[in-house]
Amino acid sequence: MHGEINVRGFNAPRSQFHNEGRFGRLFPELPPFGPDTEKVREALRELGKVGGLMDGNDRPGGTPQNEDNPKLSAGFTFLGQFIDHDLTFDPTSSLERQNDPEAIANFRTPSLELDNVYGSGPTASPHLYDVTQPGKFLVETFTDPTGTARSDMPRNSQLTALIGDPRNDENLMVSQLHVAFLRFHNAIVDDLAGKGLSGAQLFAEAQRLARWHYQWMILTEFLPRTVGEDILESVRRTHPRERLFQWRNEPFMPVEFAVAAYRFGHSQVRPGYRVNAGFAAGIFNSTLPFTDPDPNDLRGGKRAPRRFVDWRFFFRVDAANPPALGKRIDTKLSSPLFALIGANPESLAQRNLLRGLSFNLPSGQAMARALRIKPLTPEELADVKPLGFDKSTPPWYYILKEAEVRSKGEKLGPLGGRIVAEVFMGILQGDRHAFINREPDWKPIYGEGNEFTIGHLLRFAGVA
Ligand code: HEM
Repeated sequence: MHGEINVRGFNAPRSQFHNEGRFGRLFPELPPFGPDTEKVREALRELGKVGGLMDGNDRPGGTPQNEDNPKLSAGFTFLGQFIDHDLTFDPTSSLERQNDPEAIANFRTPSLELDNVYGSGPTASPHLYDVTQPGKFLVETFTDPTGTARSDMPRNSQLTALIGDPRNDENLMVSQLHVAFLRFHNAIVDDLAGKGLSGAQLFAEAQRLARWHYQWMILTEFLPRTVGEDILESVRRTHPRERLFQWRNEPFMPVEFAVAAYRFGHSQVRPGYRVNAGFAAGIFNSTLPFTDPDPNDLRGGKRAPRRFVDWRFFFRVDAANPPALGKRIDTKLSSPLFALIGANPESLAQRNLLRGLSFNLPSGQAMARALRIKPLTPEELADVKPLGFDKSTPPWYYILKEAEVRSKGEKLGPLGGRIVAEVFMGILQGDRHAFINREPDWKPIYGEGNEFTIGHLLRFAGVA
């Protein structure tokens, strides 16, 4: 059982592989949700196809199924994506064949330390840093249509972003959020330089403060709103030895999180956004030519006067400007996600479902039962009965359905919330540099009182 102490006094590891560099399993004892047969693959492709059960149908002329989430503004989707890119990156596993998580390298460290921003630091990743201003990131500027200076990440001559993780230039919102983190670090450098710090100490201290504020914001804002205060608190109160997420030396990245639960965010994406007063567009339009310098969509990898984000449309930065809302977490995905630019298959839903099969993930019902959470009933999953998935449901789909029926799509449900809370708490508690271990009584200094939200971060960074 989870949390049982074995005879040698050690907790039984959940994964054979105990090092942080690999993926592993939370539920190694559970069978896969289905056999890897052509029939099951076909059913997954059917479930995730264009015009299938998961298609939100929000193309022009369609009947959109993309309800507002009254509890989360539109920016939280991209904050979630940004955090994902800090934790997990699997550019190598195959959709076509079985993968052993313990043999797959995670190209990100599973800790909340912004390695997607810092790369390997100024010595080993010098292209990210500004040689004229020691300790600072290189940030480039351009002017918007009103003549105001706007920030962009540095880019090479073909506009490829020079950043710690290429995925942070996947769309304009996550790209501008990355820029906000660059400028957040730079603003801390300015603050500390004003207090007399210099050289290596200045960089290290700014990096520590940026990381700790980010961790604070995740613990006090992002996580409680995504998984629910109650689930987060109950995981926090559970002794680490009694937790689901167990490891021996350092946390690994569980596939149940990376391939299922934390992909909940794909359902929060809207078909399009207003990014600033002068520019609103669909998120991706795969029919526009790749060479278009300023395409009429919100893809990343471009620089043009209108391509910047006014964060007031995404987060509550000030009382006067209510932001746009995100989409509820449910089993529908916005239609542009069924036509990803340059991917095969192009449907993100099919990719997630097939990836789950290729990692032999257990069903949502089996994971819920193992945690003594009441599973969704076959009636609640009746829409996937024709595909044979109502009693043993692919976990990514299950977690979306659970959020929809148990939490009105406003946050994750009990299983999804538990997996996400366990992994975040485990990752933080397993990181000896995290503030909760180094200085448990630490409080943020760049917010208001003890409060530090993403709104404070954007303001301190000077981008909102
Ligand atoms: C426009 C927004 C987004 C796009 C286009 C996008 C696209 C993708 C793609 C193409 C993959 C790889 C799929 C595969 O082949 O298995 C992926 C993986 C993933 N996505 Fe997203 N995503 C978006 C937003 C999000 C959000 C909001 C979240 C969470 C809040 C998220 C979480 C993840 C996770 C956890 C993975 C697995 C990462 C790994 O281990 O490599 N994504 N996404």
